[in-house]
Amino acid sequence: MKAVLIDKFGGPEVLRIGEAERPTPGKGQVLVAVAATSVNRPDIVQREGKYPPPKGESEVLGLEVAGTIQALGAGVDRWSVGDRVMGLVGGGGYAEYAVAYADHLMRIPESMSFEEAACICEAYITAYLNVFMLGGLEDGDGVLLHGGGGGVNTAAIQLCRTLRPDAKVLVTASPGKLERIESLGTDQVIDYRSQDFAAEVQRFTDGRGVEVILDHIGAAYLASNMKSLAVGGRLVIIGVTSGIKAELNLALMMVKRQQIIGSVLRSRPVPEKAAIVAEFSRQVLPLLVERKVVPLIHKVYGLDDAPQAHRELEASAHFGKIVLSLA
Ligand SMILES: NC(=O)c1ccc[n+]([C@@H]2O[C@H](COP(=O)([O-])OP(=O)(O)OC[C@H]3O[C@@H](n4cnc5c(N)ncnc54)[C@H](OP(=O)(O)O)[C@@H]3O)[C@@H](O)[C@H]2O)c1
Repeated sequence: MKAVLIDKFGGPEVLRIGEAERPTPGKGQVLVAVAATSVNRPDIVQREGKYPPPKGESEVLGLEVAGTIQALGAGVDRWSVGDRVMGLVGGGGYAEYAVAYADHLMRIPESMSFEEAACICEAYITAYLNVFMLGGLEDGDGVLLHGGGGGVNTAAIQLCRTLRPDAKVLVTASPGKLERIESLGTDQVIDYRSQDFAAEVQRFTDGRGVEVILDHIGAAYLASNMKSLAVGGRLVIIGVTSGIKAELNLALMMVKRQQIIGSVLRSRPVPEKAAIVAEFSRQVLPLLVERKVVPLIHKVYGLDDAPQAHRELEASAHFGKIVLSLA
């Protein structure tokens, strides 16, 4: 089968189309003929050699697939060959065929294209898991989302707006993206290059701070994130792009009863991921079926154009999701 391969770690130029062995579904898994996948920031980190796939997962990049079930592994009775599905994979999405656990898949709504479906699992499940399931965002709360033009955070904005219409949504981004982010219905946009986001959050919330912060910047933002967090607030860290070590005032955190939660999706145990997908199916899938939430596709590339797609994501020239289509 055709797949995007890497002979050595490095820049986008190391991605090449080649032939790989078609995978075989094991117990509880299915084989998906991939129609589309999407580029997620962790793919870049894996390509650079800094984010190896969990044990037993494909070395091929790609954390999600949308396609058609081609074969069933042992013990799978909830799907049939030919079903249109979208789902999380531990790796292997940038290929004509990928194996996925049956319980990590969802049926693609009839109203949704494969390209749209390829944008859902990694970004929207990450957003839902961390802002709602772990962050516990409620109506009336404030939430601060960093990097509002990216895949995870455009999804997070849409989900906050739809599931918690009375939450106050504050978003940081580079200046060129602020207007588009505002048009998604946010309450305050902050240019992280020229503004002090902690001061802006304090100003907007009259000194109260926000109940939930979704952060992927890590070390460089820790102090300002803690300043921006309300009493009892939750800071959920899903990335560490600026670094992994930072100082923390534990006394202040204790007195303000704040929580810092670290979270990953890919390397969670199979049953945990299945439970998250099931909860997402109950709470969010109906919104996708009714097209109350529609993924924002920045651009669709062919699989052969994976290097260009990576360049674009790395330059943060995108707004929303970059899709790789195999159609
Ligand atoms: N833990 C998990 O389970 C999990 C799962 C998926 C993704 N992630 C992580 O989540 C992050 C987002 O992933 P993604 O696929 O959505 O990537 P993405 O599409 O590249 O989005 C990242 C966004 O952050 C913005 N940004 C960059 N530096 C910033 C800064 N200093 N302050 C605020 N915003 C900044 C970027 O654009 P502008 O600078 O132009 O605003 C970009 O829009 C990545 O770090 C990824 O590794 C974690």
